[in-house]
Amino acid sequence: MAGSSANPPRMANPSRMVVGISGASGSVYGLRLLELLRGSGVESHLVVSRAGELTLRYETGLRRAEVEAMADYAYPAGHVGAAIASGSFRTLGMVVAPCSVRTLSEIASGTTGSLLTRAADVILKERRRLVLVLRETPLHLGHLRSMTAVTEMGAIVYPPVPAFYARPAGIDEMVTQTCARVLDLFDLPDLPARRWGEDAGPADVRPRPSGAAAGAAGDATDPSDKEG
Ligand SMILES: Cc1cc2nc3c(=O)[nH]c(=O)nc-3n(C[C@H](O)[C@H](O)[C@H](O)COP(=O)(O)O)c2cc1C
Repeated sequence: MAGSSANPPRMANPSRMVVGISGASGSVYGLRLLELLRGSGVESHLVVSRAGELTLRYETGLRRAEVEAMADYAYPAGHVGAAIASGSFRTLGMVVAPCSVRTLSEIASGTTGSLLTRAADVILKERRRLVLVLRETPLHLGHLRSMTAVTEMGAIVYPPVPAFYARPAGIDEMVTQTCARVLDLFDLPDLPARRWGEDAGPADVRPRPSGAAAGAAGDATDPSDKEG
């Protein structure tokens, strides 16, 4: 059923996620989310904006149809009558990755001129989880105000800032870490994030069985110094 725009079947306990890819740089984040969802048992419902199609092509060489084939269901950006345009179509929520300033601003204002922004608006009105992987820098006051507005409405603004404490070996691992942490916000199990105190960080911040002697090895790093 990959990449289909046919109506999805009725589900008793829906485990569906809407993924939006807009025209900001970083279309690889959207691709990686689709890959992670494919192995998670959560059905992906994809919408790519027109500008998203351009940046995808430029940054990855992929055409929209190839990316749509990575999703369980995909809808054209102009299809405002698609399933994901209605709150009665139940989902876990939506991630927009990458999220452009234009898409952020449309969501902040409630303009919803495309299926992508309509779907995001639906998530907010249904009080579901909306995560915006906003990519722009530097930021002017208007950007910050839009970020404040969507946060007040219940969205989570998640700029794709690398977690260097995870010691990524390269861009690929950075992208995976970011996408896994985004999906953590939906409490999905078995995500490939490196976690402080588990498989990241020095040994002295990791939990030990009670009664085990403190190891001599390990840096004396203060775990409160770490970021997100
Ligand atoms: C190669 C390329 C990179 C871009 N990067 C960004 C970006 O990082 N952030 C952003 O807000 N807009 C970026 N833009 C501009 C958006 O694509 C443009 O504002 C577009 O209208 C966004 O439309 P959409 O939100 O409907 O996808 C980029 C455009 C191109 C061609």
